[in-house]
Amino acid sequence: MKNRFLNALCCNKVDRPPVWFMRQAGRYLSEYRLLRFKSGNFFELCYSSELIALATLQPLKRYDLDAVIIFSDILLLPAYMGLNLKFVDNFGPIFLNPVRNINDIKLLNDIFPSKDFNFLLKAIKIIVYELNDVIPLLGFSGTPWTLAVYMIEGKITKNFSYIKKFLYTNSSVLHILLKKLEINIVSYLCAQIDFGVKVLVLFDTWGGILTPFNYKIFSLNYVINIINQVNLYKKIPFIFFGRNINNFIIEELKSGNLSLDAIGFDWSLNLDTIVKNIPNNIVIQGNLDPSVLYGDHLFIIKEINNIMKICYNRNGYIFNLGHGIYPDIDPYSLELIINTIDRYKNF
Ligand code: CP3
Repeated sequence: MKNRFLNALCCNKVDRPPVWFMRQAGRYLSEYRLLRFKSGNFFELCYSSELIALATLQPLKRYDLDAVIIFSDILLLPAYMGLNLKFVDNFGPIFLNPVRNINDIKLLNDIFPSKDFNFLLKAIKIIVYELNDVIPLLGFSGTPWTLAVYMIEGKITKNFSYIKKFLYTNSSVLHILLKKLEINIVSYLCAQIDFGVKVLVLFDTWGGILTPFNYKIFSLNYVINIINQVNLYKKIPFIFFGRNINNFIIEELKSGNLSLDAIGFDWSLNLDTIVKNIPNNIVIQGNLDPSVLYGDHLFIIKEINNIMKICYNRNGYIFNLGHGIYPDIDPYSLELIINTIDRYKNF
C-alpha cells in the first residue's frame, strides 16, 4: 500500500501496520557482506554515494518493507566536525582523538552539509529517485547526548567514566559540546530534508546511562530543541528512539511537559503497558526483542501475533524491533514477520 508508513505516522487508518527494521541494511544480509567485503572498510562504504544507495535499497529487494533508512552512521557527523574515526573489524567504531577538555571542543568545526556531506546528499537524491514516491526514505542523526558519549569516550566502554566525569565535575563544559552538536545536527537534518528524506529518526542509544533527572537536562532538552528548530525550517515527522528510557519518556508525556510525533520503544516494557500510557495522537513504534528472531518459525509467529493483538488496529502504530537486527539471524525471519503482519490486512 502506498503511503502506509506516512499515513500511520499521521495516525490515519491504514490497512495494516507498516513495517521497517532498525539496521535493516547490514551484515545479516549476504549481499551486504559482499558489498562490504568489496569496499574493504565499513566507512569506505559510507563515503560512496553509489554504494550508499545500493546498501540502502538491498533490503527492499528482498522484503516488502514500508520504509527504508539511508545507509550511513551516526558517527560521520562528529568525524566531519574534526574527530578521527576508524572502524575496527570485530570491535566497532573508535575515535582516535576523543574530546577530553574545553580546548578539544573549541577545535571542533561546524559542518557545511552541502560540502562535507555531498556524498550522502547525492545518495539521498539517487535513492529518492529510485523509490519513485512509493515508500519514504528516512534520514537520521544521533542525539547530542549519544554522539557526545562516543566523542568523549572514544569507544564504547563499560562504565562510561570519561563522560560521567564530565557530567559530574564539569557539566557547563559538557553543555558547550551538546549545544555545538545541537547546532550541527539541525543543519545536518535540514540538508537531508532538502534532498528528499520524508521522515527523520533521532537515535538516543545511550540515553539510558543517565539518571532520569539528568536525562532531561543533558539529552531530552536538546532533542526538543532540535525537533523545534527543524520543524521551523520544514514540518516533517520525527521518530525518536531511545534505549532504556521508556519509563521516563512515558512519565514526561503524562506530565504534559513533552510532545513527540512518534516514539520507538525497546523491549523493556510490554507493548500493552506502552499503549495504555501513550496518548492516541502519538505514534508508537516497536518493540519486538531482536533475539526473538533466534527462535523457530512458530515461536516468531506467536510473538508477532501477541504484538498484533495489541496494536493491529491502533491508528498510529509502526512495527519494528526494540533495537537493531543482530548480524547472525536468519534473513528469512524478516519475511516471516512481514507475512504474519500482512495477514492482518483489513482485519
Ligand atoms: O539499515 C540501517 O539501519 C543502516 C544504517 C545505520 C547504521 N548505523 C549502519 C551500520 C544506522 C541507522 C546506524 C545508526 C547507529 N550507528 C547507531 C544508532 C542506532 C543503534 O544501533 O543504536 C549507533 C549507536 C551507531 C554506532 C555504530 N555503528 C556502532 C556501535 C557500530 C558497531 C556495532 C555493529 O553493529 O557493528 C556501528 C557499525 C555499523 N553501522 C554497521 C552498520 C551496517 C556494521 C558495520 C559492518 O561491520 O559492516
